[in-house]
Amino acid sequence: MEHATAPDSRIDLQRIPAHIAIIMDGNGRWAKRQGKTRSQGHEAGARNVRLVTEACRELGVRALTLFAFSTENWNRPKREVDSLFRLISRAMKQYADKINETDVRLRHLGEMDGLPEHAARDVRKCMEQTRNNKTMDVCVALNYGGRAEIVQAARKLADAARRGEIAPEDITEELLARQLYLPDHSEVDLLIRTSGELRISNFMLWQISYAEIVVTPTLWPDFNRQALYDAIVEYQARDRRFGGRP
Ligand code: IPE
Ligand code: IPE
Ligand code: MG
Repeated sequence: MEHATAPDSRIDLQRIPAHIAIIMDGNGRWAKRQGKTRSQGHEAGARNVRLVTEACRELGVRALTLFAFSTENWNRPKREVDSLFRLISRAMKQYADKINETDVRLRHLGEMDGLPEHAARDVRKCMEQTRNNKTMDVCVALNYGGRAEIVQAARKLADAARRGEIAPEDITEELLARQLYLPDHSEVDLLIRTSGELRISNFMLWQISYAEIVVTPTLWPDFNRQALYDAIVEYQARDRRFGGRP
């Protein structure tokens, strides 16, 4: 259900960021603080995705992009990587019906090639089941790297040039943006990073050019509705100038 009035009186429903992207960081630190295993931390993080998705949908956010597994995360111990992909598969199976009922479309950005077969299969299945949904897109970045995304875009353009379909001077920002994994979501309005690190970690390098960045010390499994509302309030207090004059 979408809110007729804001769930938090500080939020202006007319100025909700259309596209929110989240670097969901801090599962490990959360687990450590609770005396739990890292994999229990990832489980808690995965459970939280549903709550935040629902809160975004209720506010009228049109697209939510979630960083779930980076191209650099392959450098973690195999055990942790395996457990992450098992969790992803499980979440896809467990929540597919719910995602579908709420008219959310699941999308993927990143390279499917290279994902464990079961994870690729379960993500594809969920995308297929929800492909005609219209209320909100939830885009899961899996095996995603911002540099890799720009490299694959450059390759597509080079291919088109080699075939004689375009000339180098036809390459504009718009044309390059159309080669990104999800060309219809090239701009991010609000980028949230949980757990306090002040870095981008190779996420959405092209799409965040003019995003407002909110970093919160809250660890991802603790990032709740109120934390989301706080981030949106902070976003709405910013003066987005896009290089112009106020
Ligand atoms: C984020 O939590 C989840 C992924 C990167 C998959 P981390 O596992 O990075 O948690 P910290 O940063 O060690 O606390
Ligand atoms: C970023 O978190 C990647 C995801 C949230 C999936 P990391 O924990 O991998 O980032 P670094 O290592 O702190 O930069
Ligand atoms: Mg981390």
